Amino acid sequence: MYSEEKKSRNYGSIFVYCFFCFVLIVEVARFAKPYINLQNLIETEAVVEEGFMAVGNSGNLPCGSSKPSSASVRAHDEQKLSQAVTTDTRTRPPNSYCVKFQSFVTMAKQVKENGGKYESRPFSVGGYNWTLLIYPVIYIPTDSGGYVSIYVRVDNSSLITNPKDVYAEITFLAYKSSTDKYQISQETEAQRFHLFKQQWGLLQFLPIYYFENPAYGYFFEGESVVFGVDINIVKPFENWEVFSNEQNIRDPIFEWRLTKFSTRFLDSYTSDSFSSGGRNWALKVYPNGVGNATGNSLSLYLLSDQSNDKGYVEAKLRVIDQIQSNNFEKKVAAWPNATENGWGFDRFLSFADIKNTSKGFLVNDTLKLEVQILSFSKTDYYSHQSSLNVLTGDST
Ligand SMILES: *[C@@H]1O[C@H](CO)[C@@H](O)[C@H](O)[C@H]1NC(C)=O
Ligand SMILES: *[C@@H]1O[C@H](CO)[C@@H](O)[C@H](O)[C@H]1NC(C)=O
Ligand SMILES: *[C@@H]1O[C@H](CO)[C@@H](O)[C@H](O)[C@H]1NC(C)=O
Ligand SMILES: *[C@@H]1O[C@H](CO)[C@@H](O)[C@H](O)[C@H]1NC(C)=O
Ligand SMILES: *[C@@H]1O[C@H](CO)[C@@H](O)[C@H](O)[C@H]1NC(C)=O
Ligand SMILES: *[C@@H]1O[C@H](CO)[C@@H](O)[C@H](O)[C@H]1NC(C)=O
Repeated sequence: MYSEEKKSRNYGSIFVYCFFCFVLIVEVARFAKPYINLQNLIETEAVVEEGFMAVGNSGNLPCGSSKPSSASVRAHDEQKLSQAVTTDTRTRPPNSYCVKFQSFVTMAKQVKENGGKYESRPFSVGGYNWTLLIYPVIYIPTDSGGYVSIYVRVDNSSLITNPKDVYAEITFLAYKSSTDKYQISQETEAQRFHLFKQQWGLLQFLPIYYFENPAYGYFFEGESVVFGVDINIVKPFENWEVFSNEQNIRDPIFEWRLTKFSTRFLDSYTSDSFSSGGRNWALKVYPNGVGNATGNSLSLYLLSDQSNDKGYVEAKLRVIDQIQSNNFEKKVAAWPNATENGWGFDRFLSFADIKNTSKGFLVNDTLKLEVQILSFSKTDYYSHQSSLNVLTGDST
């Protein structure tokens, strides 16, 4: 009895233990995954920050072992994830400039006496001159195996005469002959260049060992390597539009007397134009109806004098009761009818109601039509050259 009981309790506790272990493993995996991703991002961020700091501060090369990477530590602490460099491969060649080194190793030796950097000759992108700067070997952090650093610099002569911000999306490339593709590092946000920040790049573009051993696939035609850059100047918008609603309309009501109603023989009649809310309008009536309403209802529309007006209009259309003031009214709240280029109803008021004398619509063969404009939308267009002036108003 006793041993039997103990055995079953043992099975129970083993099960509980196993279940606990399983839950623990699942939870650890769940927490570890985002943490690893986050770490990668912070790492990348540190590279960007550091690259700018080192070059920006000293004004010349961020070379040698003098500077331990304090910037890297700081970036870790801040955990700022706003900027990130993404890496990828692509077949399309650089769109701004390319530098081919017949022998990367020889160049690296030669530039040692030149501040450790190779500077390309100027090339023009977006109305500015730029140069591509390549540091073939940078040991930051000090204990790292070394990196190739790469920067672009905007020529400051035009910025001195006309100080302004230049936004550019930058992608650095290195040709990988083994796959016949380019290895790319791309900043997700456009970089801002200006008089006090003329240079931007990646301190740790690619590890130096990629360019020391042909096995990594970056060499071709012997020891040749190629670096390149895309600079896409991002200009702010120069044209825009503002869509708004005009309410509290000035002179909202217009009345139109349609005399000799029973002898009207044309398909449609249009009133004189009238001004309401600063715009010109007119009423249009089909005494015998139009479309589906032909022969049974009066059709009534509000028209805008602006051809091709596509705005939204709210208005009340009425036929006045000339005896008891029991007016007939329908509200339109719509975009315009494409056929009419106006707002209204084909079946507005039936002939039966118009001819019913007790309703008071037709008196002395005269109909009194009325419109009350409640609101209309408008679109104003602006252009940078004349940003204070409306170019063409009201959705033309
Ligand atoms: C770019 O460089 C060329 C040649 O050095 C020069 O003629 C030109 O004025 C420069 N353009 C700008 C915008 O600085
Ligand atoms: C303009 O660029 C040159 C060359 O990079 C540099 O020597 C000079 O100090 C810069 N001038 C200003 C005002 O930034
Ligand atoms: C637009 O107006 C025409 C009359 O010109 C009419 O036949 C048609 O039904 C109207 N369309 C709409 C959607 O109201
Ligand atoms: C009006 O006529 C059109 C065809 O011309 C038809 O599609 C529509 O359903 C009709 N509307 C009414 C309310 O009878
Ligand atoms: C005329 O209008 C009155 C009041 O609206 C209504 O009672 C009467 O039935 C209508 N007559 C006809 C012939 O429709
Ligand atoms: C209708 O016309 C007659 C004369 O033509 C006029 O005496 C009468 O006042 C008019 N009625 C209305 C409601 O305008």
